[in-house]
Amino acid sequence: MTTHKLLLLPGDGIGVEIMREVERIIAILNSKGVANSFETESDLVGGAAIDAHGVAISEGAMAKAGDADAIIFGAVGGPKWDDVPYEIRPEAGLLRLRKDYDLFANLRPAICYPALADASSLKKELVEGLDILILRELTSGTYFGEPKEIVTLENGEKRGVDTTVYTTSEIERIVRVGCDLARKRSGKMHMAAKWNVMKTGVLWRDVTVATHKAYAPDVELELILADNCAMQLIRNPKQFDVVITDNLFGDVLSDEAAMMTGSLGMLPSASLGAPDPKTGRPKALYEPVHGSAPDITGKGLANPIAMIASFAMALRYSFDMTKEADIIEKAIAAVLGNGLRTADIMQNGLKKVGTEDMGKAIAAEIEQALA
Ligand code: IPM
Ligand code: MG
Repeated sequence: MTTHKLLLLPGDGIGVEIMREVERIIAILNSKGVANSFETESDLVGGAAIDAHGVAISEGAMAKAGDADAIIFGAVGGPKWDDVPYEIRPEAGLLRLRKDYDLFANLRPAICYPALADASSLKKELVEGLDILILRELTSGTYFGEPKEIVTLENGEKRGVDTTVYTTSEIERIVRVGCDLARKRSGKMHMAAKWNVMKTGVLWRDVTVATHKAYAPDVELELILADNCAMQLIRNPKQFDVVITDNLFGDVLSDEAAMMTGSLGMLPSASLGAPDPKTGRPKALYEPVHGSAPDITGKGLANPIAMIASFAMALRYSFDMTKEADIIEKAIAAVLGNGLRTADIMQNGLKKVGTEDMGKAIAAEIEQALA
């Protein structure tokens, strides 16, 4: 039996509330003596870390993250920190984790649970059975390109600059991950970029085509302009399986894909680095796609499903605990099938519950499956 070290970084807002529901599940797994046990440590990130240490993540927390077998992350930010300088803002903690640990491959699966096909803002026929995977490049592009600044011009006007930068190897490695994932799924992959207006888009197109040809010609590749991809996702989402794209387009397209599943509160994610040469495991951070939701913070209303499903992804991608990951995902489907709903996915005639009751119901299903 192996003991895995998890670093829990609940962060701000509802991050704190939903992380408790993951801890409930970790306790069950540990008590049931499943294949591996977990040791957890917690630390601050985001606004909470700014309040305590003046930075969005402390060196101590970064060191713990380096030491952990996986990082489980809640959410960061909130109006309380709206006025802190850009360099220190809560999001800087998350971006530093992504960058310093080179977590370049961000997997954002959008799965429509059968019980939620009616909860989507799209027609039921369009989303029923939907299972797509947005694969977002996470450590380069517009998020990290330099210069990134606001300068004052001679005439007193200001000019804001962001820079989108990609290199061949940065694109190659994410395309290879996309091909690997596509092979395990339907064998189909789209690449979304703007090669009609952006130089980085031209490079994405050319490197994707070349990498695909050399590495995985058996995968069916389709190139799609990012704006068209946004439109097609709404028109006919089931035409997609794996969609690879850059950091900025991936941020936008993944929110769009999330909403098709009924609520942003449903979408988990995994951010993976290159496999460690010693252990073969990638450095990894797991987080819900949604944010800290200041409007409902402290009310016990948040949907913990994206957070719990992110933990299931940790079991799958970091620890090869496929059986337990399946059990968690089935528990989520079962609880939804039984008509339990948090406010964000509430439908007429079903039972409205808060964060804790949703977490407990999922935990009970897991406990039963492991009994
Ligand atoms: C996400 C979030 C982050 C991002 C924010 C919190 C910095 O929107 O993970 O999608 O823009 O990447
Ligand atoms: Mg986002």
